[in-house]
Amino acid sequence: MRVSIFVLVLTYIVSVVYGVSLNDNGTSYTLKNDYATVVIAKSSGFITSMKIGGNNQEFLNRSYIDANGGKVYFAAKRSSVITNTSSHVEIAFYDTYDSKSGLALDWEVRYTMLSDTRGVYFALRHNHSASYPTTSFSEIRLVLRLKADIFNWLQVEDNVGRFMPSAADQNKCVEMGPKEACKLPNGEVIHKYDYSIDMLKHNVHGFASQSTGLGCWFVSPSMEWKNGGAYNRDLSCHQGGSDSLQIMYMAGSHYGAGDETINQGENWSKVYGPFLIYLNKANSVQASWNDAKDMATKEGKKWPYTFTSIPGYVKERGKVTGTLAINNPLTGTRLPLEDAVVTLVQPESNTEPIPHQQWRHTSHWAHSLNGATPTFVIYAVVPGTYQLRAWAKGVVGEFILDQLVTVKAGEVTNLGKFTFNENRIAPITWEIGIPDRTAMEYRHGDHFNQWGLYYEFEKDFPNSVNYYVGKSNYAKDWNYCQVSIPGSDGKYKGVPWNIYFNLNKIPTGTSVLRISIAASSSAALSIALNDGKATPEVKDLIDDACIRRDGIRGIYRELEFKFDPSAFKVGENKFTLYCRKIGGYQTYYSFDGIMYDHIRLEAPGIDGTTTNNASGSGNNNVKTSTTTIIRTSTTTKAPTPTNNNNNNNSGSCAAQWAQCGGINYSGPTRCCQGSCNFVNDWYSQCV
Ligand SMILES: *[C@@H]1O[C@H](CO)[C@@H](O)[C@H](O)[C@H]1NC(C)=O
Ligand SMILES: *[C@@H]1O[C@H](CO)[C@@H](O)[C@H](O)[C@H]1NC(C)=O
Ligand SMILES: *[C@@H]1O[C@H](CO)[C@@H](O)[C@H](O)[C@H]1NC(C)=O
Ligand SMILES: *[C@@H]1O[C@H](CO)[C@@H](O)[C@H](O)[C@H]1NC(C)=O
Ligand SMILES: *[C@@H]1O[C@H](CO)[C@@H](O)[C@H](O)[C@H]1NC(C)=O
Ligand SMILES: *[C@@H]1O[C@H](CO)[C@@H](O)[C@H](O)[C@H]1NC(C)=O
Ligand SMILES: *[C@@H]1O[C@H](CO)[C@@H](O)[C@H](O)[C@H]1NC(C)=O
Ligand SMILES: *[C@@H]1O[C@H](CO)[C@@H](O)[C@H](O)[C@H]1NC(C)=O
Repeated sequence: MRVSIFVLVLTYIVSVVYGVSLNDNGTSYTLKNDYATVVIAKSSGFITSMKIGGNNQEFLNRSYIDANGGKVYFAAKRSSVITNTSSHVEIAFYDTYDSKSGLALDWEVRYTMLSDTRGVYFALRHNHSASYPTTSFSEIRLVLRLKADIFNWLQVEDNVGRFMPSAADQNKCVEMGPKEACKLPNGEVIHKYDYSIDMLKHNVHGFASQSTGLGCWFVSPSMEWKNGGAYNRDLSCHQGGSDSLQIMYMAGSHYGAGDETINQGENWSKVYGPFLIYLNKANSVQASWNDAKDMATKEGKKWPYTFTSIPGYVKERGKVTGTLAINNPLTGTRLPLEDAVVTLVQPESNTEPIPHQQWRHTSHWAHSLNGATPTFVIYAVVPGTYQLRAWAKGVVGEFILDQLVTVKAGEVTNLGKFTFNENRIAPITWEIGIPDRTAMEYRHGDHFNQWGLYYEFEKDFPNSVNYYVGKSNYAKDWNYCQVSIPGSDGKYKGVPWNIYFNLNKIPTGTSVLRISIAASSSAALSIALNDGKATPEVKDLIDDACIRRDGIRGIYRELEFKFDPSAFKVGENKFTLYCRKIGGYQTYYSFDGIMYDHIRLEAPGIDGTTTNNASGSGNNNVKTSTTTIIRTSTTTKAPTPTNNNNNNNSGSCAAQWAQCGGINYSGPTRCCQGSCNFVNDWYSQCV
């Protein structure tokens, strides 16, 4: 009894006497509570010091807020105290646009510390008034440069955590291809992209310290503000110089998201965050990571935050709920859904054509939905009008609701049950892989975030991929990506892959080879059946950089290649996949190609089919009697691709590697370098 009274008194004293304080010594603000002390320079608006309560270890060498990888810095012109009470301190820094600004944007940065904040909250607002000129950026970041000798354990996912090599070893690092990869004295190649994060389920990344038990983490209760939202992948932590870099990419374009351009005449503003810079101390780096994850769960429950007053942050949110079902269109039966995602994105526009490239507004999502008809809830949705998209492991395609979803503050938008139809024209004859928008199930896919795997192809598959349906195992006989290899003349050449399969009779109608693309870079795809004429090439795949940046889930596409019955034969048949480099790196790297997600043949009138027993996860149909509204699925359409190939139709000759002929081709047929090589009816190339 006596003890508990003492505890109560102590708690009372702590909260009253300490709380949180804000000091301004003329050059710096110091935000301090029992748990942390954070110093911010008034001249820059950057954090210059971070310490955890009761410990004198400095976390930072320095920090900054920048755009376009250090080309433009946030440059505070003034600061102001927003709130200064014993339970809440909040300061703001402003960088308003003038003719000397690197970007035509106003910036407002907020730092907030509450009496129980174990670190400091960060938020940024961008504002472009209609009168400002057109402005463009590819990256907006907060960069903490932690002391690398102390913060030596990087962790960004449960299965992506490691001790980082010493600064001394890194400074002896030898550059590899790509230039960000380098070889350490011990022979290991490190590549900062190997620590990239998928936003879909992300909420924490940072560094811990083996020697001191300290940890520094970005805890994000929501990633709604990230460009590309659930579709995006980006860098997070790595080392550079002698520092451990902990980065929050508020905007980034490393995986196909493209640049953000705000035109003159457009009013635009966006709030990134707030998110928490969480400082902790634990007995081991694993304990530190687990504690940071717990904090992320706790902060997630507080979202939307009530404390912040940064203009433009929306506190009044709505909720969207519904029940998702996807049918096999041939039978009307439900497909079992695994790890399904429902996401609200802005409706497609000319400037932001696909969700991976959307940035003007927020996006919201629910993930990890399982079962035949999972009910989902998307919480804390910023009021507005959205497009609803869904996808699921085990089902081919991405599905778009045929009506827009309106979300209002304080209201629940209940969409009821809606049913999509998978695209499927005939029963499945065979399939390769698992439809899940990744190439993880194929050779090397299980350790994809590792430098240089694309260089293994020639060694692993000296005679290319020759996949025998019914005999081959996709986990080892199908490579995670189809890349070019160096030819004898030092130039890179495509390597066709073959799929062999037996038919006991000819399909009775048009058949479809349905190919889901998990990722691609500067590659065109055409298919031939039994050495016949290749299909027209698909040339508008978007470069998502996953191959060269060690990702495994890039920009998804569902492709349909149709074949007449006459193209098939009884007995052994063969599909040939021609993946051809149409740009990107021409003379050095084998970075360009395609990662397949899933491939299947849909052929009418085939029975006694060969099935792919390596799978384990086929599209087994679940019978169900309830059907409600039937909506057709919409294959995601790609926008006009960015001009990343070497075609130069303005001159009288075609550049090396460019197109120089083919059906309906109207450009130059003479090659500036090399000669015009026939590849297929639709394409000849200068090599
Ligand atoms: C914040 O408030 C405290 C208590 O009133 C005061 O001592 C301190 O100077 C204030 N800080 C700033 C930066 O105004
Ligand atoms: C203010 O505080 C900062 C950070 O502790 C320190 O570097 C600086 O010298 C101080 N300035 C003055 C005028 O005391
Ligand atoms: C960061 O701090 C550490 C430890 O104080 C130091 O060894 C290192 O050189 C610093 N890095 C830079 C880039 O100044
Ligand atoms: C931009 O916002 C200002 C201030 O609210 C308004 O007067 C103006 O009409 C807006 N311009 C456009 C193009 O929306
Ligand atoms: C940008 O900020 C200015 C000044 O605070 C304000 O007048 C304007 O309405 C803001 N524009 C947008 C698009 O938020
Ligand atoms: C499929 O593979 C499993 C595991 O290798 C094996 O046990 C089973 O017999 C195979 N089924 C058929 C039909 O070949
Ligand atoms: C395209 O070809 C023209 C004429 O040969 C040449 O002047 C121009 O520099 C080329 N442009 C590029 C981007 O290669
Ligand atoms: C070639 O162009 C014509 C006219 O635009 C079109 O009808 C035809 O389908 C095209 N052929 C191919 C193979 O794309």
